Amino acid sequence: MAVREILIAPDPRLKLNARRVDKVDATVRQLMDDMLETMRQARGIGLAAVQVGVSERVVIAELPKPEEGQEPHPGAGKLFVVVNPELVRRSAELEEGLEGCLSVPGLVGQVERHRSVVVKGLDVSGRRIRVRADGLLARVLQHEIDHCDGILFIDRIDDPEKLWPVEEERNRSIGAE
Ligand code: NI
Repeated sequence: MAVREILIAPDPRLKLNARRVDKVDATVRQLMDDMLETMRQARGIGLAAVQVGVSERVVIAELPKPEEGQEPHPGAGKLFVVVNPELVRRSAELEEGLEGCLSVPGLVGQVERHRSVVVKGLDVSGRRIRVRADGLLARVLQHEIDHCDGILFIDRIDDPEKLWPVEEERNRSIGAE
């Protein structure tokens, strides 16, 4: 495994629409391993291949295990790897929540997302999977799928009052994606 360089906005490669992966082969698996190492080193909770300069539709997410006495997020402590992720169901219910991004260091903001989603795609072995996600995991997956379409969380914030420097976020409860 190797840590790869994370692209920082406004790198134009972050705006590309990533291509679908034809086959989950050794090269893609190497990419996934490197993405995992890169995300963990950066203390992120999600990463898209686009962010390491590979314009392919591959996303990973890993929510931290809860600290003592904290309520766990659904799916916490489990690694999710999805190739060619597609949102096949979205709850009508929307929820605003705090987001950051490893490609947009220093900023956090309030983004509206579907409260729960179903994502279909392929796993590390190339088998078809469906991931049902709620809350923070649903948010991270929507954020990462956005990366595959060249969309950053800051692109989803119209109100400048909902975006602020990370130093001002005193009770920061989530990591960067
Ligand atoms: Ni991000």
